[in-house]
Amino acid sequence: VTPVLVHGASGRMGRSILRLMEPMPDLALAAAVTRSGRHGLAPGLELPSERLGECPEFRVAIDFSLPDAFDAIMSLCVERKAALVSGTTGLNASQDAALSEASIHIPVLWAANFSPGVAVLAELVERAAAALPGWDADIIESHHVHKRDAPSGTALALGARVSKGRGHEPHYAALRAGDIVGEHTVQLSGLGERLELIHRATDRDIFARGALHAAVWIAGQPPGRYTMKDCLGLS
Ligand SMILES: NC(=O)c1ccc[n+]([C@@H]2O[C@H](COP(=O)([O-])OP(=O)(O)OC[C@H]3O[C@@H](n4cnc5c(N)ncnc54)[C@H](OP(=O)(O)O)[C@@H]3O)[C@@H](O)[C@H]2O)c1
Repeated sequence: VTPVLVHGASGRMGRSILRLMEPMPDLALAAAVTRSGRHGLAPGLELPSERLGECPEFRVAIDFSLPDAFDAIMSLCVERKAALVSGTTGLNASQDAALSEASIHIPVLWAANFSPGVAVLAELVERAAAALPGWDADIIESHHVHKRDAPSGTALALGARVSKGRGHEPHYAALRAGDIVGEHTVQLSGLGERLELIHRATDRDIFARGALHAAVWIAGQPPGRYTMKDCLGLS
């Protein structure tokens, strides 16, 4: 059984992770870390972020928090030689570089989106953008009103796949409305025709399930920086 630290446990994603992890036989909660440590989660196992260093032994950390909180959990994972699965978006370039540095010592899987559908979408987008180099490329994303970063991490990751296929970034449009879990449209527009590749998430449990699958998978991996493509075995 792999002991798991859940970082950002009181958030929308953290709560889904805790609920879906409970019946899983290969994972056991070691600690639920939140800013205040007082959300009444997992009796005896909730820890405030200022006491993160006192966390009991864990083998994998699952992090869905905020960019401000990210450095602390990554450092702790390196210190404890534990694996890190993170879905925190809005990280800056130096945090991304630090993640690559950490992956020399520990297994790391960061993904802007843990849904299997988006992993396949990213592959399709790269192929389509490369096949239609002269076409305009635009990414439109919609999320709930509480989301802080824009464009979404998923939109930027899809944008990177568009650029890979043709060398320049697409345009982005971000909508924030109601309780939308997450929708992404990649639109490629030519003269007289338009191709749209769309993913709609209707339940954030898909991201939580993907992250838990990644946690089980990464526990058996050597140090390195992994993606959902590795974890899902997509070639
Ligand atoms: N990769 C994916 O598939 C995916 C999917 C959905 C969301 N996300 C991303 O995941 C992140 C979290 O999203 P969410 O909707 O769950 O956010 P949220 O509901 O705002 O939750 C944020 C969590 O982070 C905790 N936190 C804040 N500051 C902290 C600190 N200094 N130390 C430790 N914990 C701290 C909060 O604790 P308190 O409650 O105590 O403040 C809360 O548990 C965002 O970056 C979002 O974009 C990724």
